[in-house]
Amino acid sequence: MRCVLVGPPGAGKGTQAQYIAQARLIPKISTGDIFRLNVRTGTELGVKAKQYMDSGDLVPDEVTIEMVRNRLAEDDAVKGFLLDGFPRNVPQAEVLGRMLDEMGTRLDVVLELVVDDDEVVRRLSGRRTCRNCGTVWHVDFDPPAVEGICDRCGGELFQRDDDRSETVRHRLEVYAEQTSPLVAYYAERGVLIGLDATGPVDNVTDRALDALRHQGD
Ligand code: AP5
Ligand code: MG
Repeated sequence: MRCVLVGPPGAGKGTQAQYIAQARLIPKISTGDIFRLNVRTGTELGVKAKQYMDSGDLVPDEVTIEMVRNRLAEDDAVKGFLLDGFPRNVPQAEVLGRMLDEMGTRLDVVLELVVDDDEVVRRLSGRRTCRNCGTVWHVDFDPPAVEGICDRCGGELFQRDDDRSETVRHRLEVYAEQTSPLVAYYAERGVLIGLDATGPVDNVTDRALDALRHQGD
């Protein structure tokens, strides 16, 4: 299955991507995670991306597109992938379409996670992420057994810099202006499925897997 997850910051893309990718045996490709890894390890890509991420703006397309092109060329992406956080605007979607054409394939489905702004703010203000394995937790809605420690791997949990309330507001504006046009773009191409992403994490996962059951191989 070749699938894109779209939805506002905090909609649960990363959370659902980890379960969907596991269930469908495809790699989860999260541009935000790849950027954060590069920032942490101080690569040239990380240095370029950091200032944009800190302010909640999109990293320039030429940087992002090259990174995704390289990632999609890796062996594990040949049979399918789940993209989380890419494309993020119509130009990125057009380039992705051309990249897949060149590979002789196409997207099966774009799953839109639908939640309102108040819920997004609640989710982001309590988010914690594992420094070691990247698993996403929430202090109230999806807490680990021991505060500050990842249940999966024992790693330390941290709060993302861009989850400060002013930056969250700006990320929501960027989503509305630049990313939300993708919903109409993919609806016109007949590949969009809208999913109610409210309610407990497990219920959203069940609905997502059900909505995707006939998609791809
Ligand atoms: P990115 O990392 O993609 O951030 P985002 O889109 O803002 O999305 P988030 O990761 O904040 O939210 P999410 O939907 O993954 O929610 P999560 O599952 O964590 O991008 C960061 C930055 O990188 C961008 O601002 C930009 O600068 C740059 N970037 C990335 N891609 C780019 C691109 N293509 N082009 C240009 N720049 C790019 O869940 C949130 C919280 O809610 C968690 O605590 C979770 O436990 C909780 N939660 C999840 N589901 C539920 C539920 N059902 N009920 C209750 N709580 C829930
Ligand atoms: Mg995410």
